[in-house]
Amino acid sequence: MHSIEQLQYLVNKAIADTKYTEQPAELYEPISYLMQLGGKRMRPVLVLIATEIFDGNVLKALDAAIGIELFHNFTLMHDDIMDKAPLRRGKPTVHAKWNESAAILSGDVMFVEAYKLMIKVDDSILREVLAIFSDTASGVCQGQQADMNFEKRDDVSLPEYLEMIRQKTAVLLAGSMQIGALIGGAVPDQANLIYEFGENLGLAFQLQDDILDVYGNPEKFGKQVGGDILSNKKTFMLIKAKELATGNTKSDLDTWLNSSDDPLAKIKAITSIYNLLEVRKLAEIEMEEYVNKALRALDMISVNRSKKDLLRGFAEQLLIREN
Ligand code: IPE
Ligand code: IPE
Ligand code: MG
Ligand code: MG
Ligand code: MG
Repeated sequence: MHSIEQLQYLVNKAIADTKYTEQPAELYEPISYLMQLGGKRMRPVLVLIATEIFDGNVLKALDAAIGIELFHNFTLMHDDIMDKAPLRRGKPTVHAKWNESAAILSGDVMFVEAYKLMIKVDDSILREVLAIFSDTASGVCQGQQADMNFEKRDDVSLPEYLEMIRQKTAVLLAGSMQIGALIGGAVPDQANLIYEFGENLGLAFQLQDDILDVYGNPEKFGKQVGGDILSNKKTFMLIKAKELATGNTKSDLDTWLNSSDDPLAKIKAITSIYNLLEVRKLAEIEMEEYVNKALRALDMISVNRSKKDLLRGFAEQLLIREN
């Protein structure tokens, strides 16, 4: 079994060795730009861990792992247009550096390049892997549209929020791990358990992302702090704040949600309301519940304990991440 650092090295090297030099340059340069900005590269590492847990050879899973990372970066390129985000991984977003048309089309071609890598899996599992990958991609789009729809609604419930983040974020972690497991030779019910692990980890991951969007250290976070507040994203913290606020706090919250004149004042005011109502703590408790659910799914997987320790460590690290 490799260490997480060794798997990260494999992934980083494979990405550094892949050049997008085709023409026109305007189509391919943004791909190199975004891929070389780094990021945690968590999804491809999860693909490889899932392969190894079932005694597969990680080198056989590397193309699929990079395909998943390309797909993830494609979703970020389009997500940043949709969220009007200025920063990604501490640098200007693709649409800010080039323009929106470039970010749309580069993203599209990244999705195609991702498929080209996914079809390199063994023929014996090709159909299954492509079915999982395609369902994952539809799920992400469904979640993203729900996220956008919710910006305009003020009655979004917690179950609706959780289903939205399950689709936009959790299904990709889950699908990545299921694909990795299949490449490793896992039987379907074991691959389904690893899907369940990934799904719950993904829910915890997005809850943490929403917390960091408000409370992250701008230098480490690499994205605009307060972006979710500015676009009235219906996050766990906002939904809880709306539920708990009474009196002046309630009317203040409503006023700020309807205002967009002074972005910095809006971020400051809504953050103060979150502090007052202590919704960060509630989000953290929810997040820990999903990590525990993920660990329970992991317990049920029939491989020896030492193999599972790597994933356990990975899940626990997630709770203290800063970007
Ligand atoms: C960002 O994903 C999008 C979310 C699902 C929150 P990551 O936080 O994994 O982004 P990078 O790849 O590390 O930059
Ligand atoms: C992430 O949602 C979901 C996808 C990119 C599909 P966010 O909009 O919260 O992601 P960040 O915070 O911009 O990375
Ligand atoms: Mg978004
Ligand atoms: Mg975003
Ligand atoms: Mg976010």
